[in-house]
Amino acid sequence: MQRIVILTGAGISAESGLPTFRDPTGFWARYDPRDLATPQAFARDPELVHRFYNQRRLAAAAAQPNTAHRALSHLQQAWPGQVTLVTQNVDDLHECAGSRPVIHIHGRLSEARCTDCDWRGPAPPLLATTDRCPGCDHPGRLRPAVVWFGEIPEHLDQVAAHCAAAELFVSIGTSGTVWPAAGLVDIARQAGAATLEINREPSARAAGFDECRIGPAGEQVPIWVAELLGSRLNL
Ligand code: OAD
Repeated sequence: MQRIVILTGAGISAESGLPTFRDPTGFWARYDPRDLATPQAFARDPELVHRFYNQRRLAAAAAQPNTAHRALSHLQQAWPGQVTLVTQNVDDLHECAGSRPVIHIHGRLSEARCTDCDWRGPAPPLLATTDRCPGCDHPGRLRPAVVWFGEIPEHLDQVAAHCAAAELFVSIGTSGTVWPAAGLVDIARQAGAATLEINREPSARAAGFDECRIGPAGEQVPIWVAELLGSRLNL
């Protein structure tokens, strides 16, 4: 086996202290995503949307990768074939753990982009409606470079091609409720890949996987990586 595709979601960063979305303490249990994570919400109340993402940017910048992030980074470096790491997460904890490359299909909190011109670059710790775009110098046009509901995820063609060529597809810490990410397992499966889910509980797509391992990612991912590499991990 050579080609592995790994899809991660908010659950892999939960043990680093970053809330998930749909768990009882998750963001969408406390807030309505229509108020915070849509282009319409940003047009209606940009200060509110900036406040939400500013808080998350600060929390993500202060968080440390956990043993699950570190195990995946180790796998990427030690595996003789290709390990494609795809994440729905907007934090940079995979990169902090040393993973390269990481394909962010829902964007990154650490980046901003302009709603007018093509500019995209590092976000300041706190984005404000008065900030001027470094590309076109207009104030009030910068937004978090994250994908909102109603927008098309990024790098999808590239990710679909990796899934269609995968021999093993692994989903970690995602509820499997947001599409098209939730359908990537189907692409891999139809192409003949073995499929594994690692999650604290069976996801909405659990029936579509050959194997499900239930438990915290910080415990289960290092066990799985050690099995795959046939060696103990020193994380
Ligand atoms: P969710 O909050 O929907 O799901 C997180 C999953 O992780 C759940 O199935 C939990 O049971 C599981 N989980 C929680 N803690 C865990 C742990 N320590 N170890 C393993 N699993 C754990 O998050 P996502 O599936 O990532 O998009 O959500 C997908 C998208 O919906 C996000 O990218 C975001 C959100 O709205 C946008 O904002 C566009």
